[in-house]
Formats: sequence, structure tokens, C-alpha cells
Amino acid sequence: MPVRRVLTGITTTGTPHLGNYVGAIRPAIRASVQPGVESFYFLADYHALVKCQEPERVQRSTLEIAATWLALGLDPDKVWFYRQSDIPEIPELTWFLGCVAAKGLLNRAHAYKAAVDANTQAGEDPDAGINLGLFNYPVLMAADILLFNAHEVPVGRDQIQHIEMARDMGQRFNHVYGSEYFTLPEARVDESTALLPGLDGRKMSKSYDNAIPLWLPAQELRKAILGIVTNSQAPGEPKDPATSHLYTIYQAFADAAEGAAMRRAYADGIGWGDAKQALYERIERELAPARERYVELMANPARIEQVLRTGGAKARARAIPFMATLRESVGLRSLATGVAASASKRRKEAAAPRFVQYREDGKFRFKLVDAAGATQALSVPFDDPKAAGEAIRRLPAEGELVGRELQLDGRTVAVAEATVLTIITAAIRALASDE
Ligand code: TRP
Repeated sequence: MPVRRVLTGITTTGTPHLGNYVGAIRPAIRASVQPGVESFYFLADYHALVKCQEPERVQRSTLEIAATWLALGLDPDKVWFYRQSDIPEIPELTWFLGCVAAKGLLNRAHAYKAAVDANTQAGEDPDAGINLGLFNYPVLMAADILLFNAHEVPVGRDQIQHIEMARDMGQRFNHVYGSEYFTLPEARVDESTALLPGLDGRKMSKSYDNAIPLWLPAQELRKAILGIVTNSQAPGEPKDPATSHLYTIYQAFADAAEGAAMRRAYADGIGWGDAKQALYERIERELAPARERYVELMANPARIEQVLRTGGAKARARAIPFMATLRESVGLRSLATGVAASASKRRKEAAAPRFVQYREDGKFRFKLVDAAGATQALSVPFDDPKAAGEAIRRLPAEGELVGRELQLDGRTVAVAEATVLTIITAAIRALASDE
């Protein structure tokens, strides 16, 4: 069975809460013991610096998150568990990828774009208060992923675009340097692990201030659970589990039989106080043993440091030889071994613009890529692959360029990435260099 590499990063800016546990940590630890899988889980502390400039908080969060994963049973001998900042090959690859990434692609990253839009709204300079780290965030993340040739990246919905960008950069690098250096990663968004509601019923999130920290001592955990919002139905009234956040949280911890028993209790009119007590006991049962290990680990930070350093060395055993290949591929080479004649043949062979079809969110799309592998136009989504194919077939002879829109019969089928002038300039340059 071919090995599948699964990789994900955890930004070290906060304290883990129950939502992180249910949505990310627990499924990741379970997945890490499956056969045929190599799991790479790392503390994204370089990413943390983009949004957090409080050194103590970065350090504290790194310790807490590492202790959390270990306490919950992650086996560092079985997986690759490391700290991003222990792997110097990551920032090195970030630079390589930055040199093939289209700036226009990064302009469209959600987080950066949202910051620019907010500035524009407020009548400020578009880039006011925005650091280069935020702009470069997707490139660093692409390096995290591509350095280990991950196949799958389990992430939340908000990160899908970043994985798409990593694919784009990987593809571009492969194309520019003429070999399949990088595996193109896929985002994996697990629909079955429901989002855990927080105290107020909205998604549990630090930014909504509705989160229950994972490692509250038992009595504080109980108090927090008593604070979950419910409706005003009295004990004895039948209650509807489908509209109860409390039940949704319960279900995230219960097995099928426990879930069924609780649904019956709701139908029989269990009081909210009793339902909360049951939830507390269920969570406590699951977390109490790990909490003991957590407290013990937190009292031994030097041991965690050691685990991370060992993990870093294990990760670098993969990263160092791969990086040597990549350095060679881009021309950062020893001069002593002889200098290759300028070999542009490889690139000329592939140098033709072409259409590439793909599928996204159940729709069919195509893009027009230029000789260097850069996307020059992106189609509208088609319901039917035949319609997309038909548009591709007709575009070269019948397509009309109106502004940035490629039209057929007056209907827009694709939108050009760059202005016409840019395309013409690039074409003229390409012709000049062919002489
Ligand atoms: N950006 C991710 C988040 O905020 C964290 C992250 C950094 C990451 N590097 C990664 C996730 C690589 C997956 C793969 O959640």
C-alpha cells in the first residue's frame, strides 16, 4: 500500500479549547495511528509571529499546544511532531516559492484582501498597518506543506484557499524547473466532525469569546458548562435535541448508544440542569486522564523541549536531502563540479500556452496557462464538463476579448488574469528571447 503523507500545522497564538479538541486534535491523533499513513503535525510558530508580537505569549502557547497533543496521546515516535522554527529548510523553501509565486495570486488571499478592504473602507492607505508577513503567509504555508510532499492537509474551511495556493506554487515550480519535484497537496475538510458550538451557540471560537478552555480544572469545567445558553423550557417539558446546542456538544463526546439515550431523555423532558451535569460528566470522563498527563507535562517543559528537538531532527532527515535537490534544481550549485551549458531546450519544448480543465466544488472549470505555467485566464464554473470542453474548443478561433473577459456569443466564459498589455508584453519578450 502506498504511503499517504498527512500534514497539518497549528498556529501557536492561543490556548486550546474544546472546539480545537473535537474539530482538529482528536481526529488528527486518531488518524495518526492508521496504517499506511505518515503524519506530520507541527507547531506553526513562524506563522504565529504574523499576528502575535508578544514573545511570552508565543512561547507559552507553543508549550501548551505541544503538551496538549502529547497528553492526548500523540506518539512522537510514530509521527513527525516538530516546531516549524526548528526547520531552517522551511524559510529557505519559502524564498524559492516566493520567486515563482505570482504576486497577483497573493493579492487575492482572503486574509490579506480582507485587511486591504477594511483599510479602503476606512479611507486609509490600502496597505496601512499590514505587514509583509501577512502577505507572505500563504507562501510560508506552501513551504510547510511542499517540503514534506504531503498528499493531504486536514484544515478548516477557511484554509482551503491556502492549500489551493500551495498547489499553484508547487505546480509552477515543477513546471519552471521541469520536473515533478513537489507532490500537489489536497485540502481535507472533514464534514463529519461537526463544528462545536460555544457557550452562546455560535461556533466555538476564541474570537467570539464563547470558548471553553480544554484544560480547565474539573470544577471550573463544570461551571463553564453550566453557563451554556439554553432556552427557557422547564423540567418535564419534552425538548428537541435537534435545536439544542447542549445536545450538539454532548453528541461530540458520546457514542451512538449514549447519544440515543440522551435523545430519549430530552423527549422525556430532562431538565437543562441535569442535561448539563450529564454533559460535564461525559466530558470529564474523556478528559480527566489526559488532564493529569497535561499537568505533569506542563511541570516538565524541558522534557517537551527535548521531544520537539528530537522531532525536529527527524523531520530534517527528510527536509535536508530534499532541499539539496531543490537547491540544485534552481541553480544554487557548487561551482567546482563544472558549469552546465545554458539549457533552455527543456523549457522550449513545454513552451506553449494550453488549457487545463479541472473540477472544483462540483463544478467544471478550465484555465489558460501560459508557457511558464502561469494562469492567464480562469473560466466561469460550468455545470457540465462537455460545456467546458466546448468552450475550450471554440475559444481559440471564436473567442473575443472584451476588457478582461473572454466571450463566446456575447457571453463571458473566462476572465483574464492580467491586462492585455501585460500578455502582449510577455509574448514580445518571449519572442525576443527565442532569437
Ligand atoms: N494557517 C493554518 C491555520 O491558521 C496553520 C498552518 C500553518 C498550517 N502552516 C500550515 C495548516 C500547513 C496546514 C498546513 O490554521
